[in-house]
Amino acid sequence: MTTAHSTARTIVAVSERLVLTQPQEGDVEAMFAIHGDPETNRYNPHGPQRDLAQAQEMLDGFVADWARDAVGYCAVATREEPEVIIGYAGLYLYTLFDEQVFNLYYRFRPSAWGKGYAAEAARAAMAEALPRFPGVPVTARIRANNLPSRRLAGRLGLVADPEGRVDDEGQLIHRMA
Ligand SMILES: CC(C)(COP(=O)(O)OP(=O)(O)OC[C@H]1O[C@@H](n2cnc3c(N)ncnc32)[C@H](O)[C@@H]1OP(=O)(O)O)[C@@H](O)C(=O)NCCC(=O)NCCS
Repeated sequence: MTTAHSTARTIVAVSERLVLTQPQEGDVEAMFAIHGDPETNRYNPHGPQRDLAQAQEMLDGFVADWARDAVGYCAVATREEPEVIIGYAGLYLYTLFDEQVFNLYYRFRPSAWGKGYAAEAARAAMAEALPRFPGVPVTARIRANNLPSRRLAGRLGLVADPEGRVDDEGQLIHRMA
């Protein structure tokens, strides 16, 4: 006899159409489906993840971020199908140019693009986290040619660094205005 069971996920935020949860052990296939897809890495010079081991490494990092900082990137699903992860979005606390900042992240499977999900998830993650970390600015590092991502960052209120600063990989720093 097989026993159907589901692992309860820790909910971070619920928005109109989406539910954001903490990444957890067992998400490795969803991680790989999204990060191993060449389409979701078109602007990433490192290319897509090559195997489940790379996805596991990234997942371990996401889980560790939550354990250490009580904030981090979230798994995103629709409220209609909460067991199906369609993307990742959220905030990672780190030091950029000697300042503690959040990095805003979003990566969704292509079938979920064009519906406003990434914007909705990013807003929900920021609404949940920013009041708990007053004064920590939101930034994002985006390649100049990644126009879909830069458009989204703009819609969320981030602007390219006026001094044109880039990170060590040449990605443009964007910051909440
Ligand atoms: C960046 C990325 C998340 C953007 O996804 P997206 O679906 O275009 O972004 P949004 O969630 O803001 O959706 C907006 C689009 O949905 C449309 N839309 C449809 N229904 C909508 C609704 N109810 N509300 C808002 N927008 C809606 C909008 O018209 C808009 O389309 P447009 O961009 O053609 O004008 C996606 O391209 C992606 O995952 N890329 C690969 C990963 C990546 O590059 N990440 C960034 C690394 S820096």
